[in-house]
Amino acid sequence: MKILGIETSCDETALSIVEASGDQLSPHFEILNTALYSQIEIHRQYGGVFPAVAKREHSMNVTPLLESLLENYETTPFDATSVDWQNIETILEREPELFAKLKTFIETHEKPVIDMIAVTSGPGLEPALWVGINAARALSAIWNIPVLPVNHMEGHIVSVLLEGTATQFPMLALLISGGHTELILIESWGAYKKIGETLDDAIGEAYDKVARMLGLPYPGGPEISKLASFARDNNISDESIILPRPMQHTKDFNFSLSGLKTAVLYKVQAIGEVTDAHKQCIAREFEQAVTDVVTTKTTRAIEAHHVHALIVGGGVIANQYLRDALASVATSFDIPVLFPSKELATDNAVMIAIAGYVKQFDTQPTVCPEIRASGNLQLEA
Ligand code: KG4
Ligand code: ZN
Repeated sequence: MKILGIETSCDETALSIVEASGDQLSPHFEILNTALYSQIEIHRQYGGVFPAVAKREHSMNVTPLLESLLENYETTPFDATSVDWQNIETILEREPELFAKLKTFIETHEKPVIDMIAVTSGPGLEPALWVGINAARALSAIWNIPVLPVNHMEGHIVSVLLEGTATQFPMLALLISGGHTELILIESWGAYKKIGETLDDAIGEAYDKVARMLGLPYPGGPEISKLASFARDNNISDESIILPRPMQHTKDFNFSLSGLKTAVLYKVQAIGEVTDAHKQCIAREFEQAVTDVVTTKTTRAIEAHHVHALIVGGGVIANQYLRDALASVATSFDIPVLFPSKELATDNAVMIAIAGYVKQFDTQPTVCPEIRASGNLQLEA
């Protein structure tokens, strides 16, 4: 089965074609093609992602990306004069630039060999999500290919399946990104139970906000992590910079990051003239505080739910220090830890195609279904 994945939930416009085979418990995936455009440079000027800007960028970039995705890809003959363009224009009513470019593209290209389209319907920025959804519905109507909406967070979870690992349930997933910090108990694919989450900021968001306080560019996660690792490697620390570990010892599986972020703000204000050395020390202590809390909560969740594996997903897992700390936690329980590859750790469309494959065992995809963007889409059914 060849699946076209479409992801536009935040600031990456991503398309992929994944070939999937095997049953739901031991699927096999091969990436055939991918095309991704990151809007990071545009959002950097504003210090964060603005939904209207993200939407505009997605609308402009979907068709050029589709074109590069399908270059040299297997096609079958297609008669574009049979397309009901009025219907397609209605579907893309709010993305006129996308409609114009797409029409030209379709009229000059054959139909790709694709069996199903999987598109992110949430969670994320709704204006951004709508672009992907409408593009998926338009392509579905044009090419007569069925579509399944998928949950972005499920995409982050199943992204580890590309590595071809056998799965034994229950498993625990820790999802840490710019919008999410959650512990999910996985009873089987599609059966998820959220056992803990952040009560305020997500971890990636806290990284980004602390970076901004230190005058570092967006996205701040990689910047903080570079400074922190420099400080660790060179034994740079400052005993006067001690940050709290909010909720580390509460009996639940929830997180709170806003107190930690505020503690950094007060520290920065108290210091006044923040030097590079201050930044390195703050980054190191901040990363240590986050790591302490995350490993403690994950340890407790593994203990309480007797899981057979730990999956870690989301953009923050690009962070090597956290990765190593979580790997040690799993090792201490003698269970495997599954990480996505570096390319699949941040937002991408391969994980969306994989999620679509896992989901189609339980839910039949249909041509041009009604799909709503859901900014707060939950993993639990
Ligand atoms: O999953 P993702 O690509 O997008 C969301 O769905 O949010 O995650 C992006 C987040 C950003 O907050 C970014 O600062 C953070 O992941 N991030 C990192 C690192 N690389 C990216 N945080 C800490 N350390 C990193 N190395
Ligand atoms: Zn994400």
